[in-house]
Amino acid sequence: MTHDFEKLTQYAKSFTGLTEEYELLLKEVGPEIIPNLKSVTENFYAQLSLIPETKSYLEGRIESLQAMHTQWLEGLFTNDFDTGYTESMYRVGDVHVKVHLPVEFMSGGMTLINNQLIPLVVGLFHSDSEKCTKVLSAINAATGFSLLTMQQSYQEASIAEELEKFLKISGMSKVLFSNLAAAYKD
Ligand code: HEM
Repeated sequence: MTHDFEKLTQYAKSFTGLTEEYELLLKEVGPEIIPNLKSVTENFYAQLSLIPETKSYLEGRIESLQAMHTQWLEGLFTNDFDTGYTESMYRVGDVHVKVHLPVEFMSGGMTLINNQLIPLVVGLFHSDSEKCTKVLSAINAATGFSLLTMQQSYQEASIAEELEKFLKISGMSKVLFSNLAAAYKD
């Protein structure tokens, strides 16, 4: 399937309020925030480990997951939020789909990450309340953007699953379905 990542980027930006000003701010505060992200990740995985349903996904790979995760978190303060980023987050979503990670782990996980980032930002910028508020909003926009683009994979996987079911029940071939779908487009 081909994807319009430019369209998805704009869609995700409109829903999360991720502006150019916020992208610049994230890069500006990156050098202060990045040294603390390893402990954000460690706390995140400590919290995940308390949830029984996560056990089978974490066992035997906590260290590699933490390394990938810290790298992704650092990217929030160094990346451009462009079509390349959208595509990479779509692929990350797809990796989670392929390991059958339940969809609510995505929003739940991102909430736990934000819970860790909020006290970190307040600790660093509390003396300038205007900046502190802006950094929190920028982070919320960036994590929301990442969540929305990752979850797109789940949506498409669920549509593909429904289609497979339909083809199996109806006995229709994929080729016939594609031809009919193309004929009835719009
Ligand atoms: C919600 C925020 C999350 C982010 C941003 C995130 C990020 C990532 C990234 C960047 C990868 C590597 C993808 C690749 O191979 O290219 C990954 C893989 C993975 N993540 Fe997540 N993740 C999140 C939540 C979770 C949660 C909550 C769990 C489980 C409780 C989880 C379990 C996994 C597993 C099992 C893999 C595959 C690792 C492998 O290939 O061995 N992730 N994740």
